[in-house]
Amino acid sequence: METVVINITTEYEKALEESAKLLQNGEVVGFPTETVYGLAANAFDEEAVKKIFIAKGRPSDNPLIVHIAKLEDLAPLVEEIPEKVKVMANKFWPAPLTMIMKKSERISNVVSGNLDTVAIRMPKSDYARAIIEACGLPLAAPSANLSGSPSPTNAKYVFQDMDGRIPLIIDGGNCEIGVESTVISFSEDPPRLLRPGGVTLEEMTELIGEIVVDDAVLNKLEEGAVAASPGMKYKHYAPSADITIIKSDFETFKNLCESEEDITALVFDGECDKLSCKSVTYGEEKDGFSQSARLFDALRELDEMGAKKVYARCPETKGMGLAVYNRLIRAAGFKIKVI
Ligand code: TXA
Ligand code: MG
Repeated sequence: METVVINITTEYEKALEESAKLLQNGEVVGFPTETVYGLAANAFDEEAVKKIFIAKGRPSDNPLIVHIAKLEDLAPLVEEIPEKVKVMANKFWPAPLTMIMKKSERISNVVSGNLDTVAIRMPKSDYARAIIEACGLPLAAPSANLSGSPSPTNAKYVFQDMDGRIPLIIDGGNCEIGVESTVISFSEDPPRLLRPGGVTLEEMTELIGEIVVDDAVLNKLEEGAVAASPGMKYKHYAPSADITIIKSDFETFKNLCESEEDITALVFDGECDKLSCKSVTYGEEKDGFSQSARLFDALRELDEMGAKKVYARCPETKGMGLAVYNRLIRAAGFKIKVI
């Protein structure tokens, strides 16, 4: 199949028309959001949703997020809307925030991976919401990468993974946030944070009180353990390079990198010049949002450079830093050295 790319920043009407046509006809379309690119299909059409799993090579027990454009679109998808979800939706949506609730009978097991819950997100990206509105359907969409590779933060990476597998990619430029949405489950109380992202734990706690942070956010799941979020049991965001996070000050980090052969350093902005080894940057030291915007690109760059052994500077674990740490620790296969 030929994969067409339409740039929504220059061909707005055409992008909306073509994507609406394909989505209404049960096809899969790559589209931009503020977090990462998604691979969308009509959430009410099982055959269309199955095509997403095929295009990605995704295990069928890993459920998809359903994307909506307006608050009224939520009620038909869920059994009921918990009070805390109403408060969260009013404050944050549209946002890089996905909320899990008990699903209604309109959500098929193909979308929910046989769970009795469904994950819903109203994206902040105006392009994403325009595409949802243009087709008039809730869109089931995972990240637009092949299963196991980093989520794509621009249309070029979607094309690399999806060329020949889907008919259309909508190019909306670089994603502002750069890591996937916050995922929080309201199918239990207190709610449980399953994946940190652009709406931070601190902001949510301030609004609704206690939130349980699922073990898998910071730690490796034990072999055979049941994951609260099926996606967490799969290998993720892992470049071919062997990455270790080094928790230390910069001087100690520099000494370590320079004491070994053929190390590539994954560092903060401005640190490259101070190192004699090869290096790649992933944002400013104290700025989680600048790091999230760069992280997946930096991981891809490491692969493009053919990096074998990588030492990475350690991000903070508060605010947006928690989302960055969560992705980096997976990329590092949970290897962290405290010096
Ligand atoms: O930012 C994002 O969330 C992007 C864009 C495209 O919206 N989407 C995304 O989808 O990251 P995906 O499928 O790559 O990640 C969704 C995660 C998976 O780990 C999945 O297991 C989990 O959310 N998830 C989805 N539905 C769930 C449910 N009902 N219960 C528990 N976890 C769920
Ligand atoms: Mg994904």
